[in-house]
Amino acid sequence: MTLLCGDCRDLMPAQGPYDLILADPPYGETSLSWDRRVEGWLPLAAQALTPSGSLSVFGSLRSFMATEVDFRAARLRHAQEIVWEKQNGSVFHADRFRRVHELIVQFYPATARWQDIYNVVATTDDARARTVRRKRRPPHTGAIAAGIYRSLDGGPRLARSVQRFRNVHGRAIHPTEKPVPLLDLLVRVSCPPDGLVGDWFAGSGAAGVACRLAGRRYVGCEIDPDMARRARDRLAAILPFPVGEPS
Ligand SMILES: C[S@@+](CC[C@H](N)C(=O)[O-])C[C@H]1O[C@@H](n2cnc3c(N)ncnc32)[C@H](O)[C@@H]1O
Repeated sequence: MTLLCGDCRDLMPAQGPYDLILADPPYGETSLSWDRRVEGWLPLAAQALTPSGSLSVFGSLRSFMATEVDFRAARLRHAQEIVWEKQNGSVFHADRFRRVHELIVQFYPATARWQDIYNVVATTDDARARTVRRKRRPPHTGAIAAGIYRSLDGGPRLARSVQRFRNVHGRAIHPTEKPVPLLDLLVRVSCPPDGLVGDWFAGSGAAGVACRLAGRRYVGCEIDPDMARRARDRLAAILPFPVGEPS
């Protein structure tokens, strides 16, 4: 596990190739000092993937529309998107819907075929065939023994593209920190066990925690030295060994 401090454009290409690049870049939508769009990272990321690697980018529809030409120029092809639904959200405009979602869009190089990209099909557990027990009989059934039956319908179903996770308001160390369970899902479906995840805009290092839980290798990069230190401390707290320093 390594958390670098510096500009991802300078530091991250040499750390690859990555099985999965997670990128939560500044959306460029607020007046926060760090929230400035970063130019030129997409082609570098596209070139730093393994032949079966993909790139999952966080953003709003507004931010993706503003940078659509950059994805094209980097020869990245859209694979799918997940809508992350939060329990609360941001009010940017008093006269519009309250925004309670963000997008995570997966891309892969246009030179690759989708069937060659590492992808675990995410299914729901609740729809699997299961044993159903009736615990309490309805009173009008009389002396019928408590029953068990095996549900034959169902079977695995594709996970929904809208995923609900609580955000980390109140205990976050970064103003736009992403929840570990959401990152855990992304890591498990798009990075092979023991594969390498590159987190190009690491912030609080939440993706590092997810990688640790999922057993994937992790290199993160954060440009803000104070945030990088806090992310390192966070990762060190869940690790039995020191988190790597920039060399
Ligand atoms: C949206 S936040 C990431 C939040 C992170 N996903 C989390 O869960 O905590 C974007 C981060 O990218 C950092 N950043 C901005 N430009 C960068 C660059 N060129 N290289 C590395 N990090 C950068 C910012 O300082 C900010 O912390």
